Amino acid sequence: MSVVVLISGRGSNLQAIVDAGIPVSAVISNVAGAGGLDIAARRGIPARVVKHGDFPTREAFEDVLAAEVDRFAPKLVAHAGFMRIVTAGYVARYAGRMLNVHPSLLPSFTGLHTHERALAAGAKLHGCSVHFVTPELDAGPIVIQAAVPVLANDTADALSKRVLRQEHVVYPRAIKWFLEGKLVIDNGRVSVKGNNAQFVFDDRP
Ligand code: GRF
Repeated sequence: MSVVVLISGRGSNLQAIVDAGIPVSAVISNVAGAGGLDIAARRGIPARVVKHGDFPTREAFEDVLAAEVDRFAPKLVAHAGFMRIVTAGYVARYAGRMLNVHPSLLPSFTGLHTHERALAAGAKLHGCSVHFVTPELDAGPIVIQAAVPVLANDTADALSKRVLRQEHVVYPRAIKWFLEGKLVIDNGRVSVKGNNAQFVFDDRP
């Protein structure tokens, strides 16, 4: 019933997942020195680094990455700030058991720089989404979303902090639902057995 968490950076979502009591059997980073590796070390969680730059192709990188993931035979693979676009072949390997957290209200603002783009668009609500990973970038079935207001004098930094606080709420919740077998995907839409609310709205500044 364990989870392998893939990271590239600071690891605050990893921290939230661990703090929520979710059994994390390994942390794998594609970046040496990523902050999340220290979190793993402090918690006694096995950590590995597989640097994408060490491989000639995306596929070669993913073969080694998947071998490391599979060593821990996880029930779920959780991408948490894992900043690599993955191939359809890799996705197929973990179909229906790979989640990602994305800092926007999907399907708006897939890809990078979501907070800047939400501000530039004059969006009044922004937020984050936890979704299943499918071959199309940031487009898989949505498990849960959290919305926050965009304030009049917001900066991308302030907005990102408000969103990140919600990532730390909804990602552990989604992972628990998955591990409890509560998520049902039907025709690209996710429901949660037991009618759990699949949204959060937090208008604290
Ligand atoms: C999060 O905002 C995540 O949604 C995005 O990258 C950030 C990672 O933060 N893809 P952290 O490493 O979990 O602190």
